[in-house]
Amino acid sequence: MGFFNKKKKKTWVVPQGQEPTEMDKKILYWQSKGREVPRRGLILTPGQIDGVRKSGVINTGILDTVAKEIKAGMSTNDIDKIVADYTLSHGAKSACLGYNGFPKYSCVSINEEVCHGIPDDDIILEEGDIVNVDVTTIYNGFFADASRMFIIGKTTPEREKLVRVAKECLEVGIQAAQPYCFVGDIGNAIQEHAHKNGYSVVRDLCGHGVGLKFHEDPEVTHYGRKGTGMLLVPGMVFTIEPMINEGTYKVFIDEDNGWTVVTEDEKDSAQWEHTFVMTENGVEILTY
Ligand code: MF3
Ligand code: CO
Ligand code: CO
Repeated sequence: MGFFNKKKKKTWVVPQGQEPTEMDKKILYWQSKGREVPRRGLILTPGQIDGVRKSGVINTGILDTVAKEIKAGMSTNDIDKIVADYTLSHGAKSACLGYNGFPKYSCVSINEEVCHGIPDDDIILEEGDIVNVDVTTIYNGFFADASRMFIIGKTTPEREKLVRVAKECLEVGIQAAQPYCFVGDIGNAIQEHAHKNGYSVVRDLCGHGVGLKFHEDPEVTHYGRKGTGMLLVPGMVFTIEPMINEGTYKVFIDEDNGWTVVTEDEKDSAQWEHTFVMTENGVEILTY
């Protein structure tokens, strides 16, 4: 058997007659080494980035309002109503509503639920629960995606630690996200921090390009080897959203609703998410 001479598709092209910029040169270098590089469409203009930033301001306002109001005894659908009211009264839309048939404005996932929990009048928040609220806002056509954890009243030290370490995992991912790094550099940093604390990293779901669409390249894995995955260059907009599990990294989808992702061993899970733009000096958070 011979080897197929597999040619990687060249995704980065300098337009005919144009001098390559410094950025072009760096991207062409990595492309020539066979690394995965973006296509031009993944690099947003300053005007587009500003559009995502404005959407991010509304997204942050939504999660700040949830933070003020969330408490024991509320249903997860009460949370969704807060999200819906704020979204609509600010002239925005929810990217979740109607997405592949998703029926609500937000995802609300409790304890062993990893993500994509469907808000429900019958799911009541209890003292000690750890709750992820994930909101994706569309404003003027621009998408901003973020989620936070909320602790209902007082919880156990174990749950407190899981929520804290999951947040630290996002933070170490942010530190690793430098211009001209690779997605795998971020994933590797997150994975190390999770493992050091005795936790696992969900592999079946990842962060993603965002801004002009809900889900776009690159695929931002929260595990992996340095130097693998797509090259990240200034102007790219994407999420980092590590899902950190107390037990196994394995998850399944609740058959009853086809959406809610749950840990296989039903141990707890926590997640934090922001939308970022890569700049010449690291990432800027667009969902603050
Ligand atoms: N906001 C989620 C993410 O971080 C996606 C939710 S899709 C939905 O990518 F349909 F469940 F809302
Ligand atoms: Co996301
Ligand atoms: Co999200």
